[in-house]
Amino acid sequence: MALPKDFLDTNDFTKEQILAIEDLGLAMKKAIKVDGFYPHLLRNKSLGMIFQQVSTRTRLSFETAMCDLGGHAQFYGPGTIQLGGHESLGDTARVMGDLLDIMMARVDRHKDVVGLAAGSAVPVINGMSEFNHPTQEMGDLMTMLENLPEGKKIEDCTLAFIGDATQVCLSLMFICSKIGMNFVQFGPKGHQICDGALHVGTPEERAEFGKKLMAIGEENCKVSGGSIVISDEIDCIKGADFIYTDVWYGLYDEEVEGENYMDVFYPKYQVTMDMMNFAGPNSKFMHCLPATRNEEVVDEVMDDPERSLCWVEAENRKHSIRAILAALGNRTPINDENVEY
Ligand code: CP
Repeated sequence: MALPKDFLDTNDFTKEQILAIEDLGLAMKKAIKVDGFYPHLLRNKSLGMIFQQVSTRTRLSFETAMCDLGGHAQFYGPGTIQLGGHESLGDTARVMGDLLDIMMARVDRHKDVVGLAAGSAVPVINGMSEFNHPTQEMGDLMTMLENLPEGKKIEDCTLAFIGDATQVCLSLMFICSKIGMNFVQFGPKGHQICDGALHVGTPEERAEFGKKLMAIGEENCKVSGGSIVISDEIDCIKGADFIYTDVWYGLYDEEVEGENYMDVFYPKYQVTMDMMNFAGPNSKFMHCLPATRNEEVVDEVMDDPERSLCWVEAENRKHSIRAILAALGNRTPINDENVEY
């Protein structure tokens, strides 16, 4: 199956390609965790990791996954390499592409990871931008696939995102609509995907941006049979299999003028056990982490061993990233005699 060169946005991939990467990830998870078998598919290959922002899960996942695959990862933190200084992004991308086998980047501006991919001959993976978080999507989908409600297929499931239209919220809308799931955002007006995503610009600009985002999701649904519902009425989460939330302050470096985020979201959008039970007696809790405990979610939910999937979700970042690396990075010829299977 021919894949796009880069992993910048799951909208660039088909449902079948996404599920094939998940299958590979689950097979390698079992091979490593159960059988102790490390498939050295990227032996001697180098991954360059650009981080313009802090990270725990994403950095650890990429670095250790690369090691599992027999390769090597190099970390470039803020200010450690030329990126957007007097050397153009294109020139940097070209040189890095000649020195490395794969690149990943967590960037402040999405256009930078797009520019790195355009300028580089090697695969570039988006480790999160202000626009989306596609490797998070893959870990989340893997977690849902492993925790399907009894008798349901992934396409039968509903994920309800509670709160602000962050890049994680947009990303979940993209992956759910791509796979054919039902996606719900329960959030306040002005913070919904259709009218306030990422706090972009004036109210008119937000509405315009919202239209574009909804068009992507609706196009995905036409192909997959999925659905999208956005509402500030709690009834929209009734029957949801997965209740997902993200921090409320995440985008407040670009604060909405005159707003205090606690006034906007608390208490209506806080995930409590009452909210979980309102969704359904077996609904599961998800969070990309890091969480601000007892703001967007209470401890009782986050630490519930039956209802909370957020810890396995964090671990699945690595298992899904390992699969993305193997699927995209294993392009240049490897001399089979040198590979330890
Ligand atoms: N969820 C996530 O991307 O976590 P980090 O910011 O710690 O990488």
